[in-house]
Amino acid sequence: MCGIVAYVGSKHCQNILIEGIKRLEYRGYDSSGLATLHNGKLIITRAVGRVASLEDKLEAMGGQPGTVGLVHTRWATHGGVTEFNAHPHRDDRVGIAVVHNGIIENYAALKTLLEEKGHKFSSQTDTEVLAMLIGELYEGDLESAVQAALREVTGAYAIAVICEREPETLVVARKGSPLMVGVGNGEYVVASDGAAIISHTSQAIMLDDYNVVKITPKGFRTSTIHNVPVTHKIHQLELELEEIELGAFSHFMQKEIFEQPKALRNTFRGRFNSDEGRVILGGLADHAKELVKTKRVVLLGQGTALHAAMIGRYLFEDLAKIPSTSEFASEFRYRNPIIEENTVAIAVSQSGETADTLAALVEAKDRGAVTMGVINVVGSTMARETDAGVYLRVGPEIGVASTKAFVGQVAVLTMMALWLGRRRFMGANDCGDLLRQLNTIPDKMEQILSLDAQVKQITERYVERENWLFLGRGYNYPTAMEGALKLKEISYIHAEGMPAAEMKHGPIALINEGMPAVFIANRGKQYEKVMSNIQEVRARGGHVIAIATEGDNEIKHYAEDVMYIPDIPECLSPLLAVVPMQMMAYHAAVLRGHDVDKPRNLAKSVTVE
Ligand code: F6R
Repeated sequence: MCGIVAYVGSKHCQNILIEGIKRLEYRGYDSSGLATLHNGKLIITRAVGRVASLEDKLEAMGGQPGTVGLVHTRWATHGGVTEFNAHPHRDDRVGIAVVHNGIIENYAALKTLLEEKGHKFSSQTDTEVLAMLIGELYEGDLESAVQAALREVTGAYAIAVICEREPETLVVARKGSPLMVGVGNGEYVVASDGAAIISHTSQAIMLDDYNVVKITPKGFRTSTIHNVPVTHKIHQLELELEEIELGAFSHFMQKEIFEQPKALRNTFRGRFNSDEGRVILGGLADHAKELVKTKRVVLLGQGTALHAAMIGRYLFEDLAKIPSTSEFASEFRYRNPIIEENTVAIAVSQSGETADTLAALVEAKDRGAVTMGVINVVGSTMARETDAGVYLRVGPEIGVASTKAFVGQVAVLTMMALWLGRRRFMGANDCGDLLRQLNTIPDKMEQILSLDAQVKQITERYVERENWLFLGRGYNYPTAMEGALKLKEISYIHAEGMPAAEMKHGPIALINEGMPAVFIANRGKQYEKVMSNIQEVRARGGHVIAIATEGDNEIKHYAEDVMYIPDIPECLSPLLAVVPMQMMAYHAAVLRGHDVDKPRNLAKSVTVE
């Protein structure tokens, strides 16, 4: 959601900025804009639509010179998708340009004040208010003006600011939205995430909330919004260029689906010993005594991460015998939740920046819960907010539709549940058996991925249908929800996921001739019940696509199409059952001619509540 890249150095920065912002396109946006300083004057170019439209404009004007500049992709919050509302925004007096991610909550009150002082606004955005405010408070020093303005602001922000009167200076700041400063040789590249920095330098400082950094070609200084100096550690970005490049694949989503076996091998590496029935999670070790006493687990997330959290609930109850709930972080946050003694709240998130999940995490912490993170992005806000946690280690996820992060989340939750179960009541043999099975998942996933052509053929048969159902029971009810979400978000087909038993309580009315119903019908405790639900759909003309356990020939009598997954204990089956549904969703979107990696209206990391 929104992206920022900014540059200070000795090179003309247009191409550096455009290359950087293209690496952030996956975050989702609807317009973009670039500002540079040249001969003490601001040049600003903005365009609606893809970054390619901005590039066309830049080419038509013969390029935009300047060695200090910033670029932004906007995902509309305040005001429609227009060029006027696109960033950068400028003030009307000093010559200040601002790009901003996040939301200024008190922008309306500030705008009224600024209008009373005679400022004229040309957009409907909260960001223009910030630009005007910085201009209003400017007394010859950009850094002080930014600090002063941010002291007046409530809300979340990552900002980058340049000013005609200080043509070698860039000031950046953050609260709530991520921002990092890549430190190169005589040049600095600031960005919302490392993908835009890594081709220039692997050294970066991660800003903390309320940090303000003044950067010139000669160096940088970090302080707080109250001008208290801050000392920062330089981090090594653990990111390989090939991880953020497509390689031989057509889309990042496709690449990430196929990367899942490798990603999970990384997730598992060094974290368990099947022979000894031991799970080794360094991120929990310091809190082991406290965590063993856990009386309740509350799992929080949104979207795909919530579906992983729902599976986590089953895992914690089944394997660790701890009462557990999973819920929308956004609902938990505002419903006066009860947190009893020895409650552990687990935030599940790929980005570690999702505003709803972050707010719920803070709420749970304030109410006395021990907080844990199941997060992919190292050093993200949630990773820093939690008391303990386990990283997914699945590598950067660029595709907007989450795939490898989902299996990473489920795998980590499985290991956490076993870690707790083993410390409470589970014997080494039982734990060891499940760990051995867990270890087979990557190979079994490879088997499923080799059936891609068959999954594509099945998808072709149904791709014209506008309404689909995804049904499963037990562990695979959340997996069915995930299958439906994948299909709807990239192919724009209406799909609903639900427990198979729930269908007859209403949704069955939707079933008409040929309606596709994807059933997760692997062998497990509720297999017979799922078979009955399949019959109910077929009796009404629905077409059943079953995800079934290899060797189950019987199912062919009940389903129009079958996609087989290898046999695995039920508690691990979501890790396999989700894969054919991800593949189907991918093929459906491609067959319908959609841009899989840039689905309409979606942002990768949703940093507004
Ligand atoms: C769907 C998807 C979203 C995210 C959700 C939470 O494919 O990606 O539903 O799962 O926005 O994001 P994170 O995991 O970053 O907290």
